[in-house]
Amino acid sequence: MAVLDELTALRAQTLNDIANAATTAELESVRIAVLGKSGSLTGYLRSMGSVAKEERAEVGKAVNAAREAIEGALDEALCTLKTKELDAAIDAAAVDITLPGRSQQIGTRHLINNIIDDLTEIFLGLGYTVGTGPEVETDYYNFTALNAPADHPSRSMQDTFYVKDLSGDVADVDGESDVLLRTQTSGVQVHFMEDQELPIYMIAPGKVYRRDVADPSHLPQFHQIEGLVVDEGITFGDLKGTLEYICKAIFGADRKTRFRAHYFPFTEPSAEVDVSCGICHGEGCRMCKGTGWLEILGCGMVDPNVLEMSGIDPERYSGFAFGMGVERIACLKYNVPDLRMLLEGDMRFLRQF
Ligand code: DAH
Repeated sequence: MAVLDELTALRAQTLNDIANAATTAELESVRIAVLGKSGSLTGYLRSMGSVAKEERAEVGKAVNAAREAIEGALDEALCTLKTKELDAAIDAAAVDITLPGRSQQIGTRHLINNIIDDLTEIFLGLGYTVGTGPEVETDYYNFTALNAPADHPSRSMQDTFYVKDLSGDVADVDGESDVLLRTQTSGVQVHFMEDQELPIYMIAPGKVYRRDVADPSHLPQFHQIEGLVVDEGITFGDLKGTLEYICKAIFGADRKTRFRAHYFPFTEPSAEVDVSCGICHGEGCRMCKGTGWLEILGCGMVDPNVLEMSGIDPERYSGFAFGMGVERIACLKYNVPDLRMLLEGDMRFLRQF
């Protein structure tokens, strides 16, 4: 019977193709060509109806036998090829685990953040709360509410960057913007006095901006820590005792402090605080410019006018305030001669802290 011969040939050819397939994709094409919808063996199955009745059983048997043999061979070949391909993929992706690894550089907190954290810890220990205020501030909070109205000469010492409002217009009617990058954290005092319940014992660390060119002792952007206490019966003695304690906590118990009379518009009386030089211990050296002392902060008793502007009764409450430059304290603590070194990102410098 010619059909049986054809089937034998097809079966032999297919088994041969299966044996020769080198990839699972090639194997799949063989399967489709023979067993697919319009595959050659499928064709025989479909045309069984036209096979003469007496031959049908024999042809049917041969077709089924061919299909079983081919399916079995396909399964076996698929299994082998899959394993082969997986092995090849694993080999291709192999990593040489005996190579030495690339070590990750582990960063540390920056000295500036460390100083802020240390000081924050010290003040938290004294029962203070820690607050923040906006870096983009209004003229009112940065100057006016701190007793420095528009024509006040002290404003000229803190020139800053002015900000346009979102429409691109300067914010004020007289052509000057009244939105600015804050020059000092002192404005947070006003926010606290307006918003908080009395008494107030707070510090506010944060960034401030000045229109200064960077040099060894100036940066256009730096950090301050503001402090404010408002309570009944607060005196200059409380201010001195607190700052003396803080200075010793940061710089060490052997360091001395001194208060020098100074001027700030929002405190009366005002003072600057110096700490004895850590290099020469008061003898006089280059670091302290021969004076034996290093200036670390400004402070004073909150001016009654400032309390009143923020809605606090100066007859009942009094307070003190202080503001310190964080970069300056970092440099004085570790005898760093130039503020800019803190920002250069030189790892040899930064790793020391
Ligand atoms: N805001 C002042 C400055 O940037 C520093 C300062 C001085 C803050 C006296 C105070 C203070 O709270 O009482 O120069």
